[in-house]
Amino acid sequence: MCGIFAYKGKRDTSLDLVVKGLQKLEYRGYDSWGVASEIDDNIFVEKSTGKISEVKEGAFADKKSHMAIGHTRWATHGGVTEENAHPHLDGDGEIAIVHNGIIENFQEIRDELGHGIFKSETDTEVIAQLIGKYRKEMDFKEAVLKTIERLEGRYAIVVMNKGEEFLIAARRGSPLIVGVGEDEYFLASDIPAFLEYTQDVNYLDDNELVVVDGGIEFFSLETGEKIEKRLVNIDWQAESAEKGDYDHYMLKEIMEQKETILRALNQDEDQINTVVEAIKNARGTFFSGCGTAGKVCMTGEYFFAAIADRHVNFQPASEFPIYHHFLRPESLLVTVSQSGETADVLEAMEVAKSKGSKVLSLVNVEGSTISRESDYSLLINAGPEKAVASTKATTSQLALLLLLAYAIKGQLQEGRRHLSEVGSQINDMLNPRFLTYIKEVAEKVKEANDLYIIGKAENYPMALEAAIKIQEVSYIHAQGFPAGELKHGPIALITEGTPCLSIIANDEVKADVINNTIELKSRGAYIIGIAPENNDVFDEWIKVPDVGVASPLVNIIPIQLLAYYLSTLKGLDPDMPRNLAKSVTVK
Ligand code: G6P
Repeated sequence: MCGIFAYKGKRDTSLDLVVKGLQKLEYRGYDSWGVASEIDDNIFVEKSTGKISEVKEGAFADKKSHMAIGHTRWATHGGVTEENAHPHLDGDGEIAIVHNGIIENFQEIRDELGHGIFKSETDTEVIAQLIGKYRKEMDFKEAVLKTIERLEGRYAIVVMNKGEEFLIAARRGSPLIVGVGEDEYFLASDIPAFLEYTQDVNYLDDNELVVVDGGIEFFSLETGEKIEKRLVNIDWQAESAEKGDYDHYMLKEIMEQKETILRALNQDEDQINTVVEAIKNARGTFFSGCGTAGKVCMTGEYFFAAIADRHVNFQPASEFPIYHHFLRPESLLVTVSQSGETADVLEAMEVAKSKGSKVLSLVNVEGSTISRESDYSLLINAGPEKAVASTKATTSQLALLLLLAYAIKGQLQEGRRHLSEVGSQINDMLNPRFLTYIKEVAEKVKEANDLYIIGKAENYPMALEAAIKIQEVSYIHAQGFPAGELKHGPIALITEGTPCLSIIANDEVKADVINNTIELKSRGAYIIGIAPENNDVFDEWIKVPDVGVASPLVNIIPIQLLAYYLSTLKGLDPDMPRNLAKSVTVK
């Protein structure tokens, strides 16, 4: 939800560098963009609606400066207009600010400052105007601190002031990371934005402020004292955050599942044992996550029941707080999040912690807020995931939950063996013929207005996830159901030719799902079967390997591909679906 990038350092191409960094953060928001820098003793601002990816390389080559800030926006307060794009300035045009998050008391500050001075409808502009007001009475840093004291809500901000050669940034609730290069510093919402320049980072924690001058200094916003920070080396290669030869990140990330399952298994055994003990000792285990991660949690419920013989409760993170009265100090909340920054998940964690419960998180982004605020945290090691629609993170999360289920049963090595085998089966499955066939299926159903998906047991959550994938990138109305629920309502929606995906694993519920598929077929549905074995009821058969209880991992991949081809065949951009953002840091 909005991307921030700022630079201060030895290069005089800061504006172009900021544009390039923002282009790597575009997955966080792509309604509009803007940059600011001091040029010829004035604050220069360029903003525009539309995508930052459309800005040409070297667009600011004639504007030399060593410090610049920039932003790519996902609109919350105020429509998608040039005025509402960041950076925002104070009344004198001397303070420039970029912001990610929500200022909850912005209306009150607007009323106080007088509406006439505002040029935009955003909550962000109140920060610029307040700093500008205080700046008249005190120095820049004090003015920023005094402003921050007034702000309620979640934010990451970067501010510059005409005539001052340093940046000030602060964080409360929205991510901000400092990349530390040689005589240069990068401030960004996410690491891939500066990965080509440095792998050394300082994470800004909540209620911290950083001043980026010739060096960097961190301060606590609560005590005002200086803080020493540990430099962390990130083990991500710059290429892994690039598209490479693929047209889209989504396809690249789907194909990466040839290796990512194995990377998810790359866990420290002592850490797994600690986590397993925490799960075993818990009285009341809850799974929670949002969107796709939530569907992974639901699948985890089945894995834990089937393999570890443990009952867990799932709630989407946005619904979790109302269950607070079931939480006790012995309870365990297990959160799943690709980004590690999702606001609803953080809120669920706050609720659990307020009851003294422990939190275990499974995240992809090392050092993310969710991982740092957890008692225990495991990394899924999928590498940067840039496409808004989650793909490789999904199967890695599933793999890690399945591995944990095995470990709880005392069968960690067996779990590893099973999942390694699944990894190599996925490698074989993702061959050119397989992709061509899925594209052909997509061609046949791309004009459909509605598409339904059924699954049962651990593949029921995958039917829901399939619907999310198809909705997100193809805009086709897609809905997933538990196969057995069809006859209780949804079957009324089936008419001649309605495409239906039926996920049928080789398990004890197979016969039931086949029967439900026959029920669909007899109402005229066009059946696309996802199964290890063919069946007469299928109009199309997408053959997947038979991997036992791990079937959700192999079943979801062809559906990710189908969603991708539905999107591209319709001329859409699967990496940047309308109205969505990769990381949702507002409630
Ligand atoms: C957003 C994304 C989804 C994602 C969800 C949870 O809505 O568009 O793809 O599943 O957030 O994100 P997380 O980073 O917590 O897994």
